Amino acid sequence: MKNPKEELTYLMIKPDGVRKGLIGEIIRRLEQRDLKIVALEMFQPTLEQIDEHYPKDETWIARLGQKTFKTCEKYNVSPKDEFGTDNELEMGKLVRGWLVNYMVSAPLVKMIVQGTHAVDMVRKIVGPTLPNLAEMGTIRGDFSVDSPLIANAEHRAVMNLAHASETPEEAAHEIEHWFGKDAVHAYKRFGVDE
Ligand code: TYD
Repeated sequence: MKNPKEELTYLMIKPDGVRKGLIGEIIRRLEQRDLKIVALEMFQPTLEQIDEHYPKDETWIARLGQKTFKTCEKYNVSPKDEFGTDNELEMGKLVRGWLVNYMVSAPLVKMIVQGTHAVDMVRKIVGPTLPNLAEMGTIRGDFSVDSPLIANAEHRAVMNLAHASETPEEAAHEIEHWFGKDAVHAYKRFGVDE
């Protein structure tokens, strides 16, 4: 097993993060927690690349639809009126489509982040998916007020500033997809690695 201090994860600053001028702030928050940026690049993704990035399996898509269904329930909105369907898989497909279009609407910043429990640490720093519910002190809680209720009504994805891998397996897959092999730069952080 790899040293847990050297765990790798993948983080991508989304179009709203770039357009709000939050590139520096997001990197600062990661480095502040002793995480190391070991690869970094701004780029314009293609639709195909983003389509490959988000899972295509029906379980993942239905889970996305289920979350959307729950939002409708919570705010007393009819899924049929909003989405033309109340089938979770169909709703998930619609949201996934909005998400892919949103992700190509501006350049993104991709990075590989390394450190102790990097996957969980980065998810904690980024905060939960929905900015309207994300705690203050997280990136999503501090810099976005977007809500799925508004996003659904406007037929667009929730704008939540950054994507971060959910598991080490997902991180390995995303690092390979966006950077290929051998993209990691090795260096020792003062006060962290020595
Ligand atoms: P998900 O994997 O649930 O969240 P996370 O990005 O925190 O891992 O959802 C993927 C993306 O889908 C999420 O970042 C934004 C978008 N999304 C919506 O547009 N509307 C929604 O209701 C939800 C739950 C997600």
